[in-house]
Formats: sequence, C-alpha cells, structure tokens
Amino acid sequence: MEGRNSEIYEAVRKYYSAATKEKGGRLSSSVCCCSAEAVPKAVKVIISELPGEIVTKYYGCGSPIPDKVEGCTVLDLGCGTGRDVYVISKLVGALGTVIGLDMNEDQLEVAERYKAEMSSKWGFSNVVFKKGYMEDLAAVGIEDGSIDVVISNCVINLSPDKQSVFSEIHRVLKDGGVLFFSDVFADRKIPEEIRANPLLLGECLGGAMCPEEFDEVMKSSGLSNYEIISSVETPIGNKEIEALIGGVKYSSKTIRAVKGGESGCCRIATSYAEQSSCCCGATRLS
Ligand SMILES: C[S@@+](CC[C@H](N)C(=O)[O-])C[C@H]1O[C@@H](n2cnc3c(N)ncnc32)[C@H](O)[C@@H]1O
Repeated sequence: MEGRNSEIYEAVRKYYSAATKEKGGRLSSSVCCCSAEAVPKAVKVIISELPGEIVTKYYGCGSPIPDKVEGCTVLDLGCGTGRDVYVISKLVGALGTVIGLDMNEDQLEVAERYKAEMSSKWGFSNVVFKKGYMEDLAAVGIEDGSIDVVISNCVINLSPDKQSVFSEIHRVLKDGGVLFFSDVFADRKIPEEIRANPLLLGECLGGAMCPEEFDEVMKSSGLSNYEIISSVETPIGNKEIEALIGGVKYSSKTIRAVKGGESGCCRIATSYAEQSSCCCGATRLS
C-alpha cells in the first residue's frame, strides 16, 4: 500500500476510530445507519438481543443477511463492531463459523469485547475476528475456496482498490458460494472533488461506484452473475454534505452474486423472500 492508497486507508481508519471512540458511535450523516431497506423480522429479533453498544456503533447501509446459512462458513468484510457477525453467528449455529475482518483495531476491540457474552447467550462459540485488509485476505490466512458466503455492509465503497477486493472474494469463495453485500452506489462516476474529500469518503459517498464501474469490476473478477436484490435512495440527512455532493444521486443497494454462475450449486433467487446462500448442504435451493 503506497502513496494515495495509504492516505485513504489512514483517513478511513481515523474516521471510524473517531466515530467509535469519541463521538459515541455517531457519523455525520444518515448514510451509514438509516437505509430504508426492509430488515427481515427474524433479523430484527436477533438484533434486539445484541448488546446496546454494538447496535449503537453499527454503520451499515443495508441488510446483507442471507436466511439459510445453517452450518455455513461466512466471512464479513469490514465487520466493524460486529453487529452482522453476531446476527449471522446465531443463524449459522453451532456447526457454522463466522469470520469478521476489519482493518481498524478500535472497531475490533468493541467486537471482541462481547465475544464471550454472545457465545454464552447463543450457547456456542463460532466467531473469529481478524485484523486485516479486504484487499489481501491471503495475508490473514483465508484460503482459496474456503468460504460459503461472503457478506459486507457499507464497506467496499471505502476501498481504493476495488479490483483486489472482488478478486479476493472470488478466490476465497467455494464454487457456487455466494457474495451478499450492501453498499452505497452513485448514479455517475464520482467527480474528483468529491472523491478527494475526507468527510465524503468517510461517510461512504466519496468512493462509491457507479453501475458501469461496478459491472466492469464484477466481470473482471469472475463474478458477473449478480443480481440487485434491493435498491433504495440513500438518506443523507446533513445539509453541508448535501451541498458538497451537488447533483450526484446515491442509492443503497443489496447485491447477490454467485461464484460459478448458473453452473454452480446455487441459482440466483428472484426476490428477497427467496434469497438464500443455498450452498451448505441441506439448505441448497433446487
Ligand atoms: C461504514 S463502516 C461499516 C461497518 C460494519 N460493516 C457495520 O455494518 O457496522 C466501514 C468499516 O469498514 C472498515 N474498512 C474500511 N476499509 C477497509 C479495508 N480496506 N479492509 C478492511 N476493513 C475496512 C472500517 O474500518 C469500518 O469498520
């Protein structure tokens, strides 16, 4: 990581450390917290069982939680303080595993602190947190073809090297494995003045991809078989930020892609209700 990229990692690290340690979990806009995407009832119930600090320090923009993951190995890229990790921990159950990866030690410190409490609450221990970069999963020992489901919630926009992120996702997924993620997208290529603004970067706006950029990176990573599960207008909720983004329109989307496409063990579900990771034995869709 050199030059501009290392500056971006450092800016993002500082941004989320400040939110978590100094600002009581608050960011400057409604982008990472308040998406209008419907959260399934079962997920809401699990969230209500989580410690307050984890819920307060949640910075996602969607609900990339598959419903049939029992026994699966799930990797959460940019897990933050671990809200989605602990939700999925309950869903995969005692025979599954959830790996939460984040580059920020302050976020991970909060996540780790609740590990024992959560495993005693759920009745099993299946969570591992790793400090590292989603652009280099090999560096934290995540092997080729070892993951059933990769999830991520409002993180990939923050990467200065999205090609490496999607190539790594493709590498670590099993054949037929699923990428299920939520992120902020722009309706056009982001102008340089927005891209270079640390506030807009940290708020998940400066690094958002437009549909053409996304399509290109998915195709070049071998993940061209994808479907947009939901798309809602991104709430901004801050006049200063609204002025800075000018005419750019943002949406929060949840997207599902299958490694290996139609020939893999999964088929692309056509509705949110049908979504399933479907790659872990009994829960496979026909
Ligand atoms: C908007 S927050 C979302 C956190 C979490 N997914 C949630 O829903 O609460 C973005 C997170 O991604 C992490 N992150 C950003 N860039 C990363 C990278 N290149 N590799 C790993 N983690 C990264 C940040 O440290 C931060 O915790």
